[in-house]
Amino acid sequence: MRMIDLILKKRNNEELTKEEIHFIIEGYTNGQIPDYQVSALLMAIYFNGMTNEERLNLTIAMLKSGEEINLSKIKGIKCDKHSTGGVGDKTSLVVGPLAAACGVKMAKMSGRGLGHTGGTLDKLESIPGFNISISADDFHRQVNEIGIAIIGQTANITPADKLLYSLRDVTGTVESIPLIASSIMSKKLASGADNIVLDVKVGEGAFMKNIDEATKLAEGMVSIGNLANRKTVAVLTAMNEPLGCAVGNSLEVIEAIETLKGNGPKDFLELCIYFVTEILIVCGICKDDAEAHALVEEKINNGEGLNKLAEMIRYQNGNQNVINDYSILGSAEEIIEVKYFGKMPVYVEKLDALMIGEAAMLLGAGRETKEQAIDPTVGVVLNKKIGDKVLPDDVIAYVHTNGKNTTNAIEMIFNAYRFNNKEITKTNKILKVVR
Ligand code: URA
Repeated sequence: MRMIDLILKKRNNEELTKEEIHFIIEGYTNGQIPDYQVSALLMAIYFNGMTNEERLNLTIAMLKSGEEINLSKIKGIKCDKHSTGGVGDKTSLVVGPLAAACGVKMAKMSGRGLGHTGGTLDKLESIPGFNISISADDFHRQVNEIGIAIIGQTANITPADKLLYSLRDVTGTVESIPLIASSIMSKKLASGADNIVLDVKVGEGAFMKNIDEATKLAEGMVSIGNLANRKTVAVLTAMNEPLGCAVGNSLEVIEAIETLKGNGPKDFLELCIYFVTEILIVCGICKDDAEAHALVEEKINNGEGLNKLAEMIRYQNGNQNVINDYSILGSAEEIIEVKYFGKMPVYVEKLDALMIGEAAMLLGAGRETKEQAIDPTVGVVLNKKIGDKVLPDDVIAYVHTNGKNTTNAIEMIFNAYRFNNKEITKTNKILKVVR
């Protein structure tokens, strides 16, 4: 087989076979096929797309390029939940413990934040002592005993995806639905869960900017998951404004804990309940929405979801007292009120998630390059969200700062808001489900 023939085949919009795709991925991973040939192939895929069969074969080839996590030692129904990433997205910190409290085994590998989106691992690491790199044996033991563990991805998972992703980044081929779908699903399949629930974020603060593109991505991932014999569901959710109110690592941990206590922001709480409901149905623990919904509410009201989070923190060496004492997380030196200075009452019409994410990043909550350290205590807490009424002098947001880029961050927050004197209706965060 010669790589040049495969490039020509894809350029001419013909279907690559399983053997050909495996040849490409193996050759690229072991250094026999050079970057320039793979770049040409990626561009041909970008323009001509891939069939469902090709996407599955690409996913499996990337999966086979590295280590697969074997969860067979874990008893019970295993589920993974994945989000394509957004601003203020601390969903896993609430959905994981609640699903585990309902009897699902949540063996979860998460990532770090890059750019304006935060990562679950950075949020967890803002809890003193929390360890995200436990051994495979401890990971299995913990999930068996308490039903949940959240750890970082091991270095050896899908090395082909890491190489391809870096190449896509510099060849203008990141935004290809088959390539994104295979990239995400290769990692999900490698992490071993039987059931996969995907949160595909849509909007300015997300990777997918509109619902049509997001639907295509969701359908692509669900089709790969199902063809690989994993029950897979994708939910499209709105990222037109940040999720909840807190954006910044320890601030988001506090909001997640409050949500498990039943006091979280309404949009965030509803989204979390929705995801746990989906998980319970996909995993066959509940037969319908009504039964699942009732079970999740019970686990919030009786505190079992919160206890599960505390247990996970304790198992992973974190200080579980954080559940009742937020001072353990430390705090920023200064909290600055950002006020609305108009003279007339207005409603929030727009709240740009991307700008709020970037403001938090400027303060030090996120990183621009993978090597940068983050400041867990800084960030933004939104006091007004889309549809809220704002009176003159009302605080629209609080900036938690240690002095880094504060003025720029405040300016960015002002620019993120757009007001209207007419009433604005709040829209639903759940946009669509692809099964
Ligand atoms: N996230 C991934 O893991 N891969 C992509 O290609 C895009 C987003």
